[in-house]
Amino acid sequence: MNGLMRSRPEASYRCPTLLSEHHRQRKWVDHSYSSSRLRIDPKVLLFVENTFSKLGRDIAELLVHNRMKYKVEVSGRSLPIMTNGDKGRFSTIVFENYTKYLHMDKWNKELIDKYAREYNIGILGFMPSRDETFVGAQLKNASLYIDTNVKVKDAYLNPSSGVLRVTRAGDIVRGLLPSEPNDLWTVFSPNHTTFEPVCMATHYHEQEAEYVHSPPSTSNMPLITVIQDKGEEDGIRRVLFGAGLKFWLNKLLFLDGVSYLSRGRLSISLKRYVLIDIDDIFVGEKGTRLKSTDVEAILDTQERLRNLVPGFRFNLGFSGKYFHYGDDEENDGDDLLLEHSDKFMWFPHMWNHIQPHLYGNVSQLVIDMSKNKDFAKEHGIPIDSGYSVSPHHSGVYPVHEILYDAWKKVWNIKVTSTEEYPHLRPARLRRAFIHRGVMVLPRQTCGLFTHTIFIDRYPGGQSKLDESIWGGELFQTIIFNTINVFMTHMSNYGNDRLGLYTFESVIKYVQCWTNLQMVTLPPVLLAEKYFKMHPDELDPIWGNPCDDPRHRKIWANNKTCESLPQFLVIGPQKTGTTALYTFLTMHPTISSNKPSPETFEEVQFFNGKNYYRGLDWYMRFFMSENGTVEQRNVTINNQESLKKPILFEKSATYFDNELVPRRAHALLPRAKILVPAHACPQRPGRRELHVLRGADRVVNFTQESQRSAESVSEPRSVRAAPGALGVVLLPQQLLIIDGDELRNDPVSIMYRLQQFLQIDPLFDYSSRLRYDKNKGFYCQVISQNKNKCLGRNKGRQYPAMDSKSAKYLNVYYTTHNSALVKMLKRLDQQIPMWLREDLGQSSS
Ligand code: A3P
Repeated sequence: MNGLMRSRPEASYRCPTLLSEHHRQRKWVDHSYSSSRLRIDPKVLLFVENTFSKLGRDIAELLVHNRMKYKVEVSGRSLPIMTNGDKGRFSTIVFENYTKYLHMDKWNKELIDKYAREYNIGILGFMPSRDETFVGAQLKNASLYIDTNVKVKDAYLNPSSGVLRVTRAGDIVRGLLPSEPNDLWTVFSPNHTTFEPVCMATHYHEQEAEYVHSPPSTSNMPLITVIQDKGEEDGIRRVLFGAGLKFWLNKLLFLDGVSYLSRGRLSISLKRYVLIDIDDIFVGEKGTRLKSTDVEAILDTQERLRNLVPGFRFNLGFSGKYFHYGDDEENDGDDLLLEHSDKFMWFPHMWNHIQPHLYGNVSQLVIDMSKNKDFAKEHGIPIDSGYSVSPHHSGVYPVHEILYDAWKKVWNIKVTSTEEYPHLRPARLRRAFIHRGVMVLPRQTCGLFTHTIFIDRYPGGQSKLDESIWGGELFQTIIFNTINVFMTHMSNYGNDRLGLYTFESVIKYVQCWTNLQMVTLPPVLLAEKYFKMHPDELDPIWGNPCDDPRHRKIWANNKTCESLPQFLVIGPQKTGTTALYTFLTMHPTISSNKPSPETFEEVQFFNGKNYYRGLDWYMRFFMSENGTVEQRNVTINNQESLKKPILFEKSATYFDNELVPRRAHALLPRAKILVPAHACPQRPGRRELHVLRGADRVVNFTQESQRSAESVSEPRSVRAAPGALGVVLLPQQLLIIDGDELRNDPVSIMYRLQQFLQIDPLFDYSSRLRYDKNKGFYCQVISQNKNKCLGRNKGRQYPAMDSKSAKYLNVYYTTHNSALVKMLKRLDQQIPMWLREDLGQSSS
């Protein structure tokens, strides 16, 4: 088909309020209230209908996306503690259903109101949908009438509303305004000067359906859909919404509402950084590549975008191998691009577009990358951007170390970006990390893919793309992310030039509807900015590549989750971990890691610096020389069979580091955790510190899995696999081993442990372990008269501890031990004798 005959979409949008220079000058309200000396946490208190309610979740997700902290409470239950000493715990109170606030019992409502007045914070509420009882009603204690179940159209903002900060009264959103369910809204009629409209609309009559896109009829009285209460009546500021967050403008107004009511404590930045990558430059089939006219269009659009985003330049990623692979017209396009190379930013893509995880060794990767570098030098393409991206995110995450090696070696890469960390979805939880000096930025999705090159073949049609631009997903991505890295492909700039249409349109729309200042930075500076804003993301959290099918696809074929341990012995030290380790390795089907020369055999991955060496490093401890986990012949009960070993790792240091639960849970969400624990107050003091401190660590482990399970409401936690949702550390995942029993009756312990690990058939330890009188401990049976005991520094005899110290320690650890008992009960596990005794003594 002839490209010129097609009707390409044009980014012809004109914002009615931005036409004159005068209106371009941005004005917004500074919500911060400097004279307030009261200390308040920047946190939202969110009352939901119940833990599954749709709007409640939408609100939580919006807060997560904008990295705002919040606490969820179910309306109607008792109130949370509102203050911490003098300090207020919440900066804004939000009600998913505002009538729940109005109908709160008197005592609680007074508490909320008193808090709001004292700390000078406000209340934001949503009117419930479809509440028949409220038709034409008056809101309790307020000079505010409402009408419910109204359909409305054509939203516009009150430009002088003091609530507007990010949002700008730019245009009219034409057509029926969506709301859940059935597009029904509540509208407000105020009768007091304390109220001021924020957003208005007009009546939508069913029979209008066919001319929804016509201009609003001026005869219609304005209906207020979002209203501000300045607090003149009762000293409390409020913002009320006539519908939930389905309508995009309500999302923006919600953020502004929270900022206004929190006096600026919960405000998102007014700056937006955008970087638009055009990848696959020179890659593409004949007939789909850039022609000279397309290159000219890119240059023209770029020039126009520079008026909206100062200094803007497209960032071009090239694969030199495919230079001049098109027809004559397209090859001219390639030449024109190079002629204007100084007008763009450039970054190297793979020379040949092969995914790095398919490379088995670094040398071939280096050779290929070097070819691309030679190509760049030959054609005058700048080579110092420090940025690169990989085809299909391959090798970036999950990490393929040789990609990082080659990037460093050939290009000195400092920044890359991916959509895959920790997962593609949900997009609002995408994060950054740094690995071996390479800053990996989260990349946003813009809805254009290599194959979306013609508008009439856009999945869902042009209306789908337009919806995303005019307030929908792409528009919101820019609003909710301060730093945006978008990836598009060369093919999106030829053909129907959807790349140009999409970005010019959305940037214009953002300008029209918001006071955001859009800027751009080269990748390295952008990444530095990112980590300055989010220093908590410097450290990676390695997830399990097998829990995400997309990750599995870009993980090298020879890597397998079989080479990850199925259980961990996490210490603490001095509780019998060495004995347990030794007994476990006697088992024919159980294997531990290869010894690490650096850390006294233990791998010590999850706690210290080794974690930064990455997953490939960790897995090598569990693989045979040829890189696999091999089946082996095992004989149990005289029966021979071929079995894959059950892998485990013991690092007693895991107990002492609070990062371990989160890291271990992310990588091994289903691994079983063994914790030997005992108390021996009859022995000298120092060791007890090791032993008993364990209780709170174990509790941490279970809390971590609980947290991941609730990750939607936990902004900082990296989401576990979808399957882990709703799962907490289950009884079958954690085993606390009674250290006293391990010492006195290891055969029983090993029997129970095999059952816990579901090992079949059971290995009989009774003939393999025997009490050694000289050692005073159980040892391995070597022959009829010979035992092999642990070394001299394990299993020593101690004088009894004096009763005063013992008592002191018991009292000191009471809280932790009680928490441990509570958790064991929850997990339906036996309470070890020592723990019963300790708690008995401390309470006596
Ligand atoms: P001591 O090392 O103080 O004598 P860990 O290996 O975690 O550091 O724990 C060492 C402790 O394990 C020993 O304390 C000892 O009390 C205990 N233990 C349990 N069973 C043992 C065994 N069969 N041989 C030696 N020590 C054992």
